[in-house]
Amino acid sequence: MTSKNKKQYDKALNRIPWATQTNAKRLNPDWEEFMPPFIKQANGCRMWDLDDREYIDYRCSLGPIILGYRYPEVDRAVRAQMEKGVLFSMASPLELETAEAIMANVPWLEQIRFMKTGADACTACVRLARSCTGREHILSSGYHGYHDLFAFNWPTPGVPQVLREYIRDIAYGDLQAVETAFDEAGERLACAVVAPYEWNEDTGEEYLKLLRKKCDRYGALLIFDEVLTGFRLAPGGAQEYYGVTPDLAAYAKALANGYPLSAFAGKREYMQALQKTIITTTYAGETLSLAAGKATMAVMQNEPVQEQIHKMGQRLQDGFAEIIRETGTPAYAAGLPPAPFIQFNTGNEKENSRRQNRLFSLLYEKGIFANDRWFISYSHKESDIDETLEKIREALKKLL
Ligand SMILES: Cc1ncc(COP(=O)(O)O)c(C=O)c1O
Repeated sequence: MTSKNKKQYDKALNRIPWATQTNAKRLNPDWEEFMPPFIKQANGCRMWDLDDREYIDYRCSLGPIILGYRYPEVDRAVRAQMEKGVLFSMASPLELETAEAIMANVPWLEQIRFMKTGADACTACVRLARSCTGREHILSSGYHGYHDLFAFNWPTPGVPQVLREYIRDIAYGDLQAVETAFDEAGERLACAVVAPYEWNEDTGEEYLKLLRKKCDRYGALLIFDEVLTGFRLAPGGAQEYYGVTPDLAAYAKALANGYPLSAFAGKREYMQALQKTIITTTYAGETLSLAAGKATMAVMQNEPVQEQIHKMGQRLQDGFAEIIRETGTPAYAAGLPPAPFIQFNTGNEKENSRRQNRLFSLLYEKGIFANDRWFISYSHKESDIDETLEKIREALKKLL
């Protein structure tokens, strides 16, 4: 780790557990040598660490940066709103304006309410489903945030074990697990809450159609956790991409290009459960993020954002494949174009992850910041992708 980064890291560790607010931003010991623990500035698809080292960023802040850092239309809208005030004593008209801007991109939505985090939005969807059905059990697939009701399948002391009784966790794409869960507990299930794409292999369609069918048969609600897929796979997220429509959905990351805004939304008849159950939080109507969300949605309406992201992602993914062939690397180019990745397949899991770690470490050193999936933003241009591919070529040659 370089000097200023290291000094700041040691100081921060003393005051802030893990030296970060987000677990995924913890320093990975396998990458520590070159991974920058702090970023002081970002613009477009590039960012700079405390030692002024520049990186082309493919993490996109873990997903939220869909247009690019400091995207002019978005930041301009936020500045204009700041002149009027951040949070009011009653609702702002911006709430409806932003709601309608989202619905222009996601036409199946009939009603929507705002929140601040992805976890908030997912939890709200489950509360609504339980309220609508009068049932308490849920089927879950994927990560939906740190809240108690979802925090059961990793070691998290502090979560009441009794909650496990109410949740069935299944692996993404596991058709048999869907059948079994509904056979065994269909009448008790309030909902199936699923991340509709897990950024690995594209096996979503059959899986989502089966979930839709089972939910209909058993009177459970289908909830898509579109926190990561929303506005990224397609303007309408996984719902549009796979052509399967849920009853409720949670949105967050790409909704406001990095400003803290999330939403739970869906069919009117289910959103109307808010007449009886309570879901409320003080900052949900914070107007700077709403202004950012409205502006982000407008850019998506007026420009081919997702089309360009798919195009650039495809260029990156094709480049991965070509370099893998050229260097004889035991790997393949995986994922969908908006977030492709290199999957090593040496036949040995440990060796795969050793190579993966080494590749990231080499890339950080060369000024490419990627991690697991390579998220593309609207600010990644051909020249950025080509520069990245050149560095990957050098890194993979070194890795041999
Ligand atoms: C699919 C999915 N759902 C929910 C969440 C939780 O969102 P947040 O971290 O904003 O609470 C995440 C976060 O990574 C996510 O990827």
